[in-house]
Amino acid sequence: MAGYFEKQHVLVTGASSGIGRALAERVAAEGGDLVLVARREPVLRAQAEDLERRFGVRVDVVPADLSVAGAAAGIVRALSERGLSVDVLVNNAGLGIHGDLAGARLVDVSTQIAVNITALSELTALLLPPMVARGHGAIVNVASTAAYQPVPHMAVYAATKSYVLSFTRALWSETRGTGVRVLAVSPGATDTAFFDVAGDDASVGNRRTPEQVVDVAMSALRADRREVVDGAANALLARVAGRLPTRWAITLAERSVRPQSTTTN
Ligand SMILES: NC(=O)c1ccc[n+]([C@@H]2O[C@H](COP(=O)([O-])OP(=O)(O)OC[C@H]3O[C@@H](n4cnc5c(N)ncnc54)[C@H](OP(=O)(O)O)[C@@H]3O)[C@@H](O)[C@H]2O)c1
Repeated sequence: MAGYFEKQHVLVTGASSGIGRALAERVAAEGGDLVLVARREPVLRAQAEDLERRFGVRVDVVPADLSVAGAAAGIVRALSERGLSVDVLVNNAGLGIHGDLAGARLVDVSTQIAVNITALSELTALLLPPMVARGHGAIVNVASTAAYQPVPHMAVYAATKSYVLSFTRALWSETRGTGVRVLAVSPGATDTAFFDVAGDDASVGNRRTPEQVVDVAMSALRADRREVVDGAANALLARVAGRLPTRWAITLAERSVRPQSTTTN
């Protein structure tokens, strides 16, 4: 079976590490051309050379800090200067900070919102219209199991991922019949550099691999699903959280990511 991404131009944000890196490799292996976006340009350039050499695809690098206002517009400008159009947008870049809001640095609050919400929404708004005009394309937004209930000690992160899920569900409806697929992928704990920033207290259950997340995302995209939670245990927890009384769901989430140094109450 021909690769889903063959002859497609796929833009992946957060491509320098973890899930985005694994996804970029899968796209290249399936014959897709790539645009890699993240902050660390040398990492992206080395990755681009490696993928071009191994898979014979075209890989462009557009370094960008998605926490900076106007970053999405800058990326789209760089694409048009190179004459590139995007068939598949994967909004994967994201970060989570663990800790109570009362002790949070303002920059951490605003960075999570800027990268997880603003850049994702603006890139989608800028790249969706040409997809609709061409009658084909896909938007894949990486949410999280944190999207399915409020998460104390990660209040901002969970709220940003609830936004991603809500936004993606609505967009899925708006794009029915246009030829554009829209999918929300929600990983649970996955073995990536995410926890270098979030800290190990943010990790719930056994970590899955980025490749497993990519497998699940690919199947869901092929099946034209609206959303998918990676991993059977994570999917069950997300479903249960949605059916519990809100107070119980919050209590369960709080216990799952409670800072190890905090005493129980
Ligand atoms: N790992 C998990 O357990 C887990 C669970 C649920 C959801 N997720 C979601 O999965 C997505 C991918 O995360 P991951 O686990 O693969 O983590 P990761 O290994 O830390 O990768 C994060 C990626 O985002 C990029 N990034 C971060 N801040 C950025 C910024 N300001 N501008 C541009 N790029 C930025 C990073 O690249 P640079 O550093 O080069 O900029 C990196 O490529 C995120 O949306 C995350 O919320 C992860």
